[in-house]
Amino acid sequence: MGIVYEERQKIFQLNTPGSTYLIGLIDEERFIGHLYYGRRIDDLNMEYLKRSNDAVRFPSRCNGERLRFQDGFQAEYSTAGQGDYRESCLEVRTRSGHNACMLTYVSHSIYSGKPALEGLPATFGTEEDCTTLEIVCEDRVLQLQVRLLYTVFEKIDAIARSVRVINQAKEPVYLTRVLSACLDMDNENYDMITLDGVWAKERMITRRQIANGKQRISSNRGVSSHQANPFIAIADSNADQDFGRVYGMNFVYSGNFMAQAELTQFDMLRVTMGILPEGFCWKLESGASFTAPEAVLVFSAEGIGEMTRSYHDLYRNHLIRGKYCHAQRPVLINNWEATYFQFDTDKILSIARTAAALGIEMLVLDDGWFGRRDNDACALGDWYVNEEKLKGGLPYLVSEINRLGMKFGLWFEPEMVSPDSDLYRQHPDWAIRIPGREPVQCRNQLVLDLTRREVRDAVYGQIRAVLRSANIEYVKWDMNRYLSDLGSLGLEADRQGELSHRYMLAVYELQERLITEFPDILLENCSSGGGRYDPGMLYYSPQIWCSDDTDAIERLRIQEGTAMVYPLGTMGAHVSDCPCHSNGRMTPFDTRGYIALAGTFGYELDVTRIAEEERNKIPEQIRIYHKYNALIREGDYYRITSCQENHANDSFMVVSKDKEEALAVYIQVEARPRLRSVRIRLKGLEDRWQYAVGDGGRILSGAALMNAGILMDELWGDYQGKLIYLKKV
Ligand code: GLA
Repeated sequence: MGIVYEERQKIFQLNTPGSTYLIGLIDEERFIGHLYYGRRIDDLNMEYLKRSNDAVRFPSRCNGERLRFQDGFQAEYSTAGQGDYRESCLEVRTRSGHNACMLTYVSHSIYSGKPALEGLPATFGTEEDCTTLEIVCEDRVLQLQVRLLYTVFEKIDAIARSVRVINQAKEPVYLTRVLSACLDMDNENYDMITLDGVWAKERMITRRQIANGKQRISSNRGVSSHQANPFIAIADSNADQDFGRVYGMNFVYSGNFMAQAELTQFDMLRVTMGILPEGFCWKLESGASFTAPEAVLVFSAEGIGEMTRSYHDLYRNHLIRGKYCHAQRPVLINNWEATYFQFDTDKILSIARTAAALGIEMLVLDDGWFGRRDNDACALGDWYVNEEKLKGGLPYLVSEINRLGMKFGLWFEPEMVSPDSDLYRQHPDWAIRIPGREPVQCRNQLVLDLTRREVRDAVYGQIRAVLRSANIEYVKWDMNRYLSDLGSLGLEADRQGELSHRYMLAVYELQERLITEFPDILLENCSSGGGRYDPGMLYYSPQIWCSDDTDAIERLRIQEGTAMVYPLGTMGAHVSDCPCHSNGRMTPFDTRGYIALAGTFGYELDVTRIAEEERNKIPEQIRIYHKYNALIREGDYYRITSCQENHANDSFMVVSKDKEEALAVYIQVEARPRLRSVRIRLKGLEDRWQYAVGDGGRILSGAALMNAGILMDELWGDYQGKLIYLKKV
């Protein structure tokens, strides 16, 4: 059992294989205090961590001076308005206009398994996989019950937290903030690691020393965003891939969020994560409940790499659903960068014929197949086939593609409407907008108000009809603008602050409907590339288009940041044309292949028009994908070098769970004069086992490979790459 309650000392001990999390009930008043999170400790006599001699920790030591206690207390779930001036997790507005709340313990339960979060994506597990602690607390004045949920996983160093608020009073209360997790720790000179970016440059690893005050990443764009990813890690200042303590926090949510580290006057650190409070206000009727999304905590005593592997294992086994999660995805070719909007049936079939002959397994028809969509200024919302472009419609095209032995996939952007569309002309009130104010367009489009059931049903009905009209085996669900002009005709004035969260719940509901009705469809999420790359989306789709930047070298950094948290098998990665449409760079075809191998492999180019020599390499690239994909998808990921740090080369490896085989991918980003070889120390192997290295016939022990390393000769020219396969002998 991963959770025990030590009755005498009133301490909850939450254990994963390598970590312990301690919660204590403090003083007679039963405040819920945070005592410890870190490397595993099995002792049950940890009462001294309640620090009962510290005035700032223990209310009855305060001699009436309660403010100091409130503002220094290590809270499990902080509240606003009664003396805790740090970030609060819970804040309300009552009818009389007050904001304060204060929580004390009422009861708890511990049980096997993990409850689902209604309407929300969340990790899951069986009764054997995990144990849950539910602490019930309340604010007596507000008659507000708060349930703090903690699930520990038996085999993975992860703890999933979520919060449910229930209004037991007779009148409604407005929730103005309900964060999902709070971690109060002593400051020990930590760094904060986040994944920040911009369109086409998502999830760049950023590391900063935590300074006094609040350092926050957030999104108020209605999506988790290109700019910030809902992930934060607190790491020892000297922690690296293999060494040091690292605390990860990842939010299973795809909308507005915040993640913050706050260093306070008493040299304590408060780390918080949850729905962004700004703009959020939820009216909670009497008897109703509100569930805040889940935050997943991972502790690693062995560096960033160990944290990464825990997230990968957790998400591969307890978050991503459907038959494709652990399966090899078909090698696809997407026509976007090949044709943009200029195509017809003949063009698509000519691509398909050439692709099929080379071994490509699926053709994905991207934007432009519907309505009068010949450019990005119109037709979103008109989800019926443009028969002028596609003579014979989808049934003909798909059957021809199937006849070639290929699967067929299709692009949608269900959440949007173009003002120049039939849908908009019929229902101008279906877009999110503020009455009397001209809504701001982006990419010539507006966002549909999916919080309204009739809008959701209409969009879903159109998509369903298309999916039933032909043998469509893959869907790319795109979302190409941020939310603005937040107003919904479906919500009363005092509920407008619910719009962004209700929007996310609506998207989740639509995707749940889709995967329930079409369980065999492979769903890939996308948001102008990687604008919604988060665990929330991974609950519905096993893969996400990583970035609109398809340049292989740029992708090294984007994929390194992404893979710090998200499994390799979730990253949509394609070989694209050169000069690359993103930045004009030229890279060798082989290198483009090696880099796309790290994700779900495919092509994004006009295969009929690339150089013969490149086309001829495709069958071999596909063979390599088939050979290594299971290893890459299911194995343990180790970052070796990072071109973001050394500006010279980039390398990582994946080791099978049984450690019998491994693949290292090495990319020389910048060529230097051939003066000496580069030492690459491998990781994750078994010390005493012997491994055959590559096809050169050399056999070395795991110890040699990991300590002395392998020596990479300088390759000739920039952007050259090499795969090194290792097999136990
Ligand atoms: C977004 C996606 C691209 C492509 C275009 C089509 O930008 O990220 O992959 O599908 O939309 O408009």
